[in-house]
Amino acid sequence: MPAKRDGFTSTFGVLLATLGSAVGLGNIWKFPSLTGLNGGAGFLLVYLLATLLVALPVMIVETMLGRAARANAITTFEQVAPRSQWWWKSIGWMGFLAALLIMAFYSDVAGWVYAYIFKAISGEISTTDPKVAAEVFGKLVSNPLSSLLWQWVVLVVTGSIIMLGVSKGIEAVARKLMPLLFILLLVLCARSLTLPGATQGLVFLFSPDFAKITPAVMLTALGLAFFKLSIGMGTMLTYGSYFREDQNIPLTATRVMFADLSISLLAGIAIFPAVFALGFEPAAGPSLVFMTIPAVFTSIPGGTVFMTIFFVLTAIASVGAILSLLEVPVAILSERFGLGRKRASVFTILAIGLMGVPAALSQSLTAELKIFGMNPFDLFDFLSSNVLLPLGGILICLFVGWVYGLPQLEKQLSNDGKLHNQALIRTVYFLIRYVTPLSIAAVLLHGLKVF
Ligand code: PHE
Repeated sequence: MPAKRDGFTSTFGVLLATLGSAVGLGNIWKFPSLTGLNGGAGFLLVYLLATLLVALPVMIVETMLGRAARANAITTFEQVAPRSQWWWKSIGWMGFLAALLIMAFYSDVAGWVYAYIFKAISGEISTTDPKVAAEVFGKLVSNPLSSLLWQWVVLVVTGSIIMLGVSKGIEAVARKLMPLLFILLLVLCARSLTLPGATQGLVFLFSPDFAKITPAVMLTALGLAFFKLSIGMGTMLTYGSYFREDQNIPLTATRVMFADLSISLLAGIAIFPAVFALGFEPAAGPSLVFMTIPAVFTSIPGGTVFMTIFFVLTAIASVGAILSLLEVPVAILSERFGLGRKRASVFTILAIGLMGVPAALSQSLTAELKIFGMNPFDLFDFLSSNVLLPLGGILICLFVGWVYGLPQLEKQLSNDGKLHNQALIRTVYFLIRYVTPLSIAAVLLHGLKVF
């Protein structure tokens, strides 16, 4: 059954496809809003550490497992784990659940991006006035019908892409357009940095106030690191299953990590100087990007055109990430339940459509529906990024470090001895055996106030 899987045709193609999953609303929307909400530089610092010391090793071994087994997130553990240890399969099931939870709010935000394409064209968001910007955003998200409709547009678009079997083609387009997004971000940074009063934004972003680094902040940063690199839930595992035998996995993962980080940082530099220069609120949360990015564009000649292109590119980037999210449940349903890709896709989209309703209504009808003090949108985000992905990360590390073992790890990560990276492999082994799972566990328990 797994023998007939598609694969990527070139090693560079693998790199770009993996980047296509990593780069998305996480860079443009989630990173800036969380950085703003959690006090700026201190959060950024923890996020950087979490990415380097925790997320990168997990990414390497998760991808490796996928390539070794060439199967979906559940079948993989059946193939590589002894039969008696059935519990490793829970990684796949948690990933399945995480994919649905993430999609429930991610499709909502993607819907806002689609809506903003039209608002950019109409000129409605061409303003540098925080009040007007907040009004426009508020009007969009507090209207239950428009929130739901935009979310469904996203689900229909991405669902059709999967059903028509053109996801590879779309991903290819998305990748080609990524450099353009990068350039637009550079333009935004240049403008934002030259606004009078911009330095305060740089101070906010780069000069840490250590008192602001609480356990909850650390957990959020860790969750973001997992979310950003699409790890801990089987996405990278599924992608690894399409990797080439001669792909240098540690190198690819490191490159993806750096590329992904630079895009997030550019988004941060485009946003925070403008936030302070134009009088926005850094802790605005999910609305931050939708208010400040248009404001920066408005201060550029020809801004409306650029703004439109920017939201189109962000929408396309979100499609790349969404396709990789959908891949987890679709691969599990079709390969394990023999559903066929079409039916598996329909089923997945319908499930997300249902779960997405309370998320999409979180700024209107379900705003007061608080569970653990969070509305459904925040709850889904919290449960997936801050609980399920780190848990999945711990299990993946424990599995590779204690069951899979060093000899196999060496064989896989060195491509059967063809790469001379023994020292690196041993470092990864040491990290995932002790350091990574222990630090995730500490941050998780501390952040959830278990101790
Ligand atoms: N990494 C993607 C982003 O930042 C989101 C994602 C998370 C994709 C988990 C797949 C799996 O937008």
